Amino acid sequence: MKILITGSNGMLGHDLVEVLKGSHELVLTTSKTLDITDEKQTLDFITDSKPDLVINSAAYTDVDGCETNQELAYDVNGEGVKNLSRACKEVDCPLVHISTDYIFNGKNTRPWVEDDEIGPISVYGKSKLKGEEYIQETLDKYFIVRTAWLYGMNGKNFPKTMLELAENHSQITVVYDEVGTPTYTPDLAYGISKLIETDYYGIYHLTNSGNCSWCEFARYIFEMAGVDVEVIPVTASEFARPAPRPSYSVLENKKWIENGFEPLRSYKDAIKEYIELIK
Ligand SMILES: NC(=O)c1ccc[n+]([C@@H]2O[C@H](COP(=O)([O-])OP(=O)(O)OC[C@H]3O[C@@H](n4cnc5c(N)ncnc54)[C@H](OP(=O)(O)O)[C@@H]3O)[C@@H](O)[C@H]2O)c1
Repeated sequence: MKILITGSNGMLGHDLVEVLKGSHELVLTTSKTLDITDEKQTLDFITDSKPDLVINSAAYTDVDGCETNQELAYDVNGEGVKNLSRACKEVDCPLVHISTDYIFNGKNTRPWVEDDEIGPISVYGKSKLKGEEYIQETLDKYFIVRTAWLYGMNGKNFPKTMLELAENHSQITVVYDEVGTPTYTPDLAYGISKLIETDYYGIYHLTNSGNCSWCEFARYIFEMAGVDVEVIPVTASEFARPAPRPSYSVLENKKWIENGFEPLRSYKDAIKEYIELIK
């Protein structure tokens, strides 16, 4: 297939390229070559390149930054996705779009399923939800893939931050009352590569298996890296950040499993591999 990938320089974009380049013809774009907030450029670019599939891994992902740069958040995560949807409609190709656990309000006591009620509590979550809505209004052939707590080689992320902090701190405070599923971008990219071989369109939750709090995750990272640091648990309200986060955002990969795909490996196995690679 000829696959156009937006945000190909990003953390997930980088691994999508790695996973897909052997078996597909890729058209790679960055914000410099295709600014998805530019309606005309997006339409022209996609009608000229005529892809069989578009994967949108571009987004404004700074969750706290979205609170102060609201216009940018809605432009990239909402209008940008609208522009992509319209362009895909024009050339009749499916769109794979990456969304987030932050479209839920976090007030659940069991993992969220795809058709649970949505209720984002941050600007980032609200802007990402706009993107989902535009796709559903415009297209029949789409995969909306909601994922969570991403980390990979090519970008700023929680495991990297923890290991950097540990270089000059003996104690680190980490939030214990937010629970989710850390997800390794090469595993997610692999999942997406399987999904696009099908026409099982719709909304999917896709994460590594298992779940933990940020605090448990930090402890596991240090244990696997053999780093001796004291992790001090704090509540999210003690660790004030500009954007509120859902306190429970574990995503049940229900539709993924129902459609016969294998669950992605456990977050513990994935982070073990990541730490081995960055050591
Ligand atoms: N990170 C997480 O924990 C997480 C969790 C759940 C879901 N997600 C979702 O997963 C997807 C990938 O996330 P990520 O962490 O890999 O993101 P990332 O590393 O921040 O990469 C996003 C990319 O988007 C591109 N971009 C920004 N504005 C653009 C514009 N106007 N036009 C075209 N490209 C633009 C940037 O491109 P340039 O580098 O060229 O400027 C950047 O490389 C996003 O949809 C995100 O919302 C992420």
